[in-house]
Amino acid sequence: MSETPPVSPEIDALLQEHRVFPPSEAFRAQAAVNDPEVYARAAADPEAFWEGFARELEWMRPWTRVLEWTPPDAKWFTGGTLNASVNCVDRHARSARRNKAALIWEGEPGDRRTLTYFDLFRQVSQFANVLKSLGVTKGDRVALYLPLIPELAIAMLACARIGAVHSVVFGGFSAESLRDRINDSQCRLLVTADGGFRRGHVVALKQVADEAVADTPSIETVIVVQRGQQDIPVVMKDGRDRWYHDLMREASHDCPPEEMDAEDMLYILYTSGTTGKPKGIVHTTGGYLVGTYATAKWVFDLKEDDVYWCTADIGWVTGHSYVVYGPLANGATVVMYEGAPDWPEKDRFWEIVERHGVTIFYTAPTAIRAFMRWGTDWPRRRDLSSLRLLGSVGEPINPEAWIWYHLHIGAERCPIVDTWWQTETGGMMITPLPGLTATKPGSATHTFPGISAEILNDAGEPVPVGGGLLALTKPWPAMLRGIYGDRDRFIKQYFSRWPGGIYFTGDGAKRDEEGYFWLLGRVDDVINVAGHRLGTMEVESALVDHPHVAEAAVVGRSHEIKGQAIAAFVTVKEGVAISEALGEELKKHVAHKIGAIARPDDIIFAADLPKTRSGKIMRRLLRDIAEGKAIGDTTTLADPAVVARLKEQYLAIEG
Ligand code: WT7
Repeated sequence: MSETPPVSPEIDALLQEHRVFPPSEAFRAQAAVNDPEVYARAAADPEAFWEGFARELEWMRPWTRVLEWTPPDAKWFTGGTLNASVNCVDRHARSARRNKAALIWEGEPGDRRTLTYFDLFRQVSQFANVLKSLGVTKGDRVALYLPLIPELAIAMLACARIGAVHSVVFGGFSAESLRDRINDSQCRLLVTADGGFRRGHVVALKQVADEAVADTPSIETVIVVQRGQQDIPVVMKDGRDRWYHDLMREASHDCPPEEMDAEDMLYILYTSGTTGKPKGIVHTTGGYLVGTYATAKWVFDLKEDDVYWCTADIGWVTGHSYVVYGPLANGATVVMYEGAPDWPEKDRFWEIVERHGVTIFYTAPTAIRAFMRWGTDWPRRRDLSSLRLLGSVGEPINPEAWIWYHLHIGAERCPIVDTWWQTETGGMMITPLPGLTATKPGSATHTFPGISAEILNDAGEPVPVGGGLLALTKPWPAMLRGIYGDRDRFIKQYFSRWPGGIYFTGDGAKRDEEGYFWLLGRVDDVINVAGHRLGTMEVESALVDHPHVAEAAVVGRSHEIKGQAIAAFVTVKEGVAISEALGEELKKHVAHKIGAIARPDDIIFAADLPKTRSGKIMRRLLRDIAEGKAIGDTTTLADPAVVARLKEQYLAIEG
């Protein structure tokens, strides 16, 4: 855990980056935030700063204290009560925004739906009544396993309306992953769909859900959304399964919102950690809403007539905070697209930008690198002149990708906001403000006003200029309140590296002479594959679950498009013959156990794994082998020859 961040050639290049892009005068002049004083004012009194945003939301009862901080426990806006669905829906439906588009949705096959704020208000209220009629009450957990369709946002907001806690599980996860998440938080009800679409294929979600629910005693009811005109076969189990459209037909449009304490739980979202078991990150109502509202408003410079598109799936935190809660709390028009960027053609995203006049576009570096590979003809065929602001999230963006994005999507006109944050932080933490910040390609620049971050060394001493570990030194409204059901892990993971309530991010970072932050990637056993977080232990557990595998060690290696790829070193049991077919079988096994995102890119069969004399696997060496790098010091190894053999093997499979 205390290894210094690996310095790959990409990161070396990143640190040589000196270009600076100040916002254009035209952008600066119209930006909601263009006075640099905001930073000093927020730093002088962060509580007053956040309170200002809280006042812009609708509360049922005002708070009596802004912050109570007994590390590691933060309570924000204590005494205050509110409802998240009222803030995201009702107050716009009551206003001049009533007929404004809230969601503009496109399915991958080309089907389209637009819901106004008033539509959304009615459907959220109806589904809230459906949940109530099925016995769901305040505090109950509800699992949502859906494709990227409007019903996912509706179901989240309906849970929020009645005080139920949603737990969204990304539709690409396996039955086992879904089952474990449902059981960990004891969900009472599951909402799924007959299926979704990905690259022209049906993803049969209900079938996967059936497999999961066979082993989840807490689930009483499964609600099934019929995805569209296409007939996707499903088996409905009597007494357990109900069609969404049947239930909605009978439900009333009137559902008074539950009055929620600011610190009542809003949702749980599972994310990978350093052990085999994903952690249920807990977010509460008041602080989370204030944090996502404020950051969406300022970082995206949201204006009344913007058309905002974040390409993330709602199954990840980016979708929770910046498809649903942040933009809807701002009354924005949100574009949602179900499918792949290269379906039916490689200009699908640009076609959507053109068709809906998207003004703000937020995506991940892995997507940008794929666009680069596909070439500039695809975006050039489309009218992208509506765009005024671009965003990036999920992993470090390499300067080449940043510049490509700037030139070929932003036409040198759009500021780029590279936003660093995590599932745990709830909202953006290190990011430019587009009307203020001079950006540097590859740097997430500065903390959002009111946020405190520092680079610390292992001893907890600040590193004002140079590299170390990224720490968040003060509480913030949208911070996680815990790991569901695991207080010890919460403290150990985030608050035990340094004393005094300093949060450890798990990321290595560097600060340059001008105070800019450069994120360098994880320093723990977490890898980032195409912007998705995976625990190496999770993949290892899936591998050793296979009857032929004796031992497995998984590391991340750099990958041109995905950022990191998964390399798995595997030893097999006595008598098992290794073959290419077995390698394929193991890849499939992992995909089946966890989900396609966890499918290893390389399987390297080894006679032995490099271990220290005390038996600890030397992952650093495995990373070096997988990166094709020179092997460092091997004197602590029990058997140094193991490394030479592995390296030879790796080179052989790489061809
Ligand atoms: C990890 C968090 C933030 C929502 C999506 C991922 C990496 C995220 C950046 C960025 C460099 C980034 C970090 C972080 N990360 N954004 N702009 N620059 N790295 O959320 O799954 O919780 O993963 O993603 O390593 O710790 P997540």
